[in-house]
Order: sequence, then structure tokens, then C-alpha cells
Amino acid sequence: MKVFISYRIPEAGLKKLRGKFELSVNGEERLLSKEELLDGIADADALLCVGNKIDRDVMDAGKKLKIIANYGVGYNNIDVDCATEKGIMVTNTPDVLTETTADLTWVLLMAIARRIAEADRFTRAGKFSKFDPYLLLGSDVYGKTLGIVGLGRIGQAVARRASGFDMKVLYYDVQPAAQEIETRYKAKYVDLDTLLKQSDFVTLHVPLIDATHHLMDKDRLSLMKRTAFLINASRGAVVDEQALVKVLKEGGIAGAGLDVYEKEPQLSPGLTELDNVVLIPHLGSATLQTREAMAELAAENVVAGLAGETPPNLVNRDVLKP
Ligand code: DGY
Repeated sequence: MKVFISYRIPEAGLKKLRGKFELSVNGEERLLSKEELLDGIADADALLCVGNKIDRDVMDAGKKLKIIANYGVGYNNIDVDCATEKGIMVTNTPDVLTETTADLTWVLLMAIARRIAEADRFTRAGKFSKFDPYLLLGSDVYGKTLGIVGLGRIGQAVARRASGFDMKVLYYDVQPAAQEIETRYKAKYVDLDTLLKQSDFVTLHVPLIDATHHLMDKDRLSLMKRTAFLINASRGAVVDEQALVKVLKEGGIAGAGLDVYEKEPQLSPGLTELDNVVLIPHLGSATLQTREAMAELAAENVVAGLAGETPPNLVNRDVLKP
């Protein structure tokens, strides 16, 4: 059986597949074009994909395709309904990246609050000439209110870290978490508007689905305090990026820390000109250990799927229905 891997993944994952299957790996350091992708999966039994858009055209081309194993927890790049209709299993890589992504969320939060990227640019430019009581003053983090939108695995890991900063934690989700989770993280459920109005830091941890597309639009951004910060390490399109640029420019909020972008890898015009943003290139899960664990998990899903077993991280369970 053949496994097509659309982008180089860590060896730890390849090791689990080598010897068991014929492997075809995109060895170039670039995303394949759609034509190349269609070509590559023509005779593949499994696709291990990294960031590609997997739509009906791709699935039509992959006539033998039994499983699409996404290298990542978010799978908004895949038309899951189409896969289910065609009897193709879809899997993702949850859990192994939870703590790493929560760490990165805090990196962004701390960096924007204390103006770290700006300060780094200032220092490198040779502008540090003296201690100055007014130089690059930031905002305190400890004791402030953290608003978590989406208290899933990553949201909870972010909440856990907040206790070290003595923060008050508010959260919003489609439904309140179990009492035990609220108690564990000292997190209080509020509606989204209340969270936006009361939080000093708002951090987004929702999947990108129709209901969350532009969840943070102009109106919701305008509910945030002028002194508050927005952090996004989920998916870019959860935020209306053009509206965010406008709000940041006008001082409607104090700043933003962004790991993801609406039209990734493109950034909305004006974003890079702003000093009150920290911008990083989709690094949520980017540690060696985590990327290896993701590769292993994606490979384990392929191995199970092609062995006729239920993969550990099957997303579309309906596909199993007779
Ligand atoms: C994920 O795991 O969803 C990361 O954002 C990579 O896509």
C-alpha cells in the first residue's frame, strides 16, 4: 500500500511507516501545488497532509484513498463531510501539542504586554543609551483578568498557567465546562460580551468552523477595553483581521499577539506597520519534541487506518457507520 506525504515530517513519524508501506514524500520545502497534490495521491491508499487544502477535487483524484491523516489538531483545511460521504477516514493530532501551544500563547501574551518585540528592535538598533524611567513601559500581567474563549484542551492548559500569575480567569464556550474543571482552574463562565468587556487579555482557543468565522469582528473588538490585548494562536479567520488592524491603529485596544492570520501566509495590509502587535509565523506547536510527537501520531493513525482498525484520532466517526 502507498502512503503519500505532502510535506517533509520529522523522521520519528517516517520511521513508523517505513518498511510497512511504500512511501512517497514531498522532499521539497514548499507546499505542493494542487496539481502536484492530485498527481501524488492518484494511486495512494493514505494521505498524510501538512497544511494543504484537501477538498473534493483532491478526494476525487485519490480513488484508492482510505485515510487522510492531518499533521495538526485543527482540520479546517479538510472537507470532512466530503470525506465521510466517500468513506474516507480523517484523523488529526490532538493532545501532544496542547501544552506546547499553551506555552506559545503565554509567550505572545507576555511579549505584547511587556513590548518585548519592540524592545528587541530598539536594542538591536543601538538605541539603548541609558536607563529611562519612561522607556518602553508595558502592562502588568499578574493579578489581571484573563478571558479565555474556548475552554477545550488548549484553553484549559492556558488557564492552568494563569494561576501562577494570580489572574482572575473568565471563560466563554458554547456551553459551560463541568464544575470540576471550573473549580480546578478557578475559571468563571460568562457570556462572550461580558468576557470581552471585563478582560485585560482575551485569548482565542476555538476551532475554525462556520460559527467561529470572524467571531472577533468589528463589533466584538469594540467591546474590549482600550487597555486590553487580544491573543490568537487558534486560527486566523476567527478574527476579522482588517477590522483588527483598524482597531489597533485607532487605539481601540492596546495590542495583539498573533500566531495565525486570516489569509495565511499573507498578512492584512497595515499589520506589519503597527508597533502594538507581536507577529509570529504559525508556531503554536513548533518545538522539536512536539513536532516529533505529532509526526508519530499522524503515522500511527495511518498504520491503524490501513490495517482496517479505528485510528486513535478519528475525527469523522460517522464514516464507520455501515
Ligand atoms: C495545528 O495543530 O492545528 C497547528 O495549528 C498546525 O496546523
